[in-house]
Amino acid sequence: MKPFEVYPLMDVNIKKGLGSYVWDENGKKYLDFYGGHAVISIGHGHPHFINRVNSQLNKLAFYSNAVKNELQTELAEKIGTISGYPSYHLFMVNSGAEAVENALKLASFKNNRTKIIAFERGFHGRTSAAVHVTDNPKIAAKINQGFERQILPWNDLATVKNHLSKNDISAVIIEGIQGVGGIHVPDPKFLKGVETLCRTHDTVFILDEIQSGYGRSGKFFAHQYADIQPDLITMAKGMGNGFPIGGVLISPNFKATHGLLGTTFGGTHLACAAGLAVVEVIQSEQLLENAILRGQQLTQALDQFEEVLEIRGMGCMLGLRMPFPVKEFRKALVEKYGVFTGSSSVKNTLRILPPLTVTASEVNEFIEKFKACLLNYNPKPTH
Ligand SMILES: Cc1ncc(COP(=O)(O)O)c(C=O)c1O
Repeated sequence: MKPFEVYPLMDVNIKKGLGSYVWDENGKKYLDFYGGHAVISIGHGHPHFINRVNSQLNKLAFYSNAVKNELQTELAEKIGTISGYPSYHLFMVNSGAEAVENALKLASFKNNRTKIIAFERGFHGRTSAAVHVTDNPKIAAKINQGFERQILPWNDLATVKNHLSKNDISAVIIEGIQGVGGIHVPDPKFLKGVETLCRTHDTVFILDEIQSGYGRSGKFFAHQYADIQPDLITMAKGMGNGFPIGGVLISPNFKATHGLLGTTFGGTHLACAAGLAVVEVIQSEQLLENAILRGQQLTQALDQFEEVLEIRGMGCMLGLRMPFPVKEFRKALVEKYGVFTGSSSVKNTLRILPPLTVTASEVNEFIEKFKACLLNYNPKPTH
């Protein structure tokens, strides 16, 4: 049997990782400013992560959600504190799409409505409801189109108001910072306006922080720059630093009943150990502060290049608008300079997503390699 070939693969076989670097089977070293889709938060092979996961593995990897799991309680408490949402509850899952799926379901349980508002360029995952609120019809099958949803223009409060006025919208879902769509930060006034409209019309406000959360923006959640309190917050990616783990933060206005949600693998002992290690390192190494500083350093340095037409985003989540489609440039960065970066659904945008542990000298190294790649990039970019 062979893998089902749905991924356009780079011809690189990664064998080992440490901090901001990975090595391939030939021992070639790469600077990882992508973290495999923004997953690596505390760096590859962090010693605290390895110890926490290893020692849990030696005790117990899994027992089901039919028994008490004090690691879940500990993780919920720590996330509540570090995120500034101590009164919210945590439901644990295994991936980002699953977190979104459960958030949409909770919204519909709450207000008994079926219509969802999402936004242009948005990405929320590939499971049934998540893919239908994603703005990409190519990845949705007929079976995914089972409820009414509207994809609205970005930052356009009047249109949201219009749609919510009939009091029949179950939820509005938006990313804290759009990731796959090319790094777009929502206007804080827009987020505040949507929050108010949702409260007025009994619509559930869902912030998808799967990519922009866990400190990547320099705040624990990117929406915290807008001073809002969503009803539901979805998380995954950086939450486990590569261990498959996701979660929904749920406002105290939602009442849990037994059997309302459930999963076999969500919140296993091993997953909790990975999640705890990440939160502990973010706290002890002050990674939110580091994300801000390294983001500023990157932005200042990248601003000097005339080929960088625009820098969007914040912290360790930046999008560079280049004067050419970035596909070949990214390939050159990997093959000739040993640097991983990300693409997006906007073909001229390069995504820069280093681990939150990235150092000042690693940022300098990135800038040097980016500069060399630009100088030797052939054909020369045209404006
Ligand atoms: C904002 C956002 N939501 C949801 C998802 C889906 O997460 P997963 O691939 O873990 O299902 C992603 C993945 O890229 C994402 O960026």
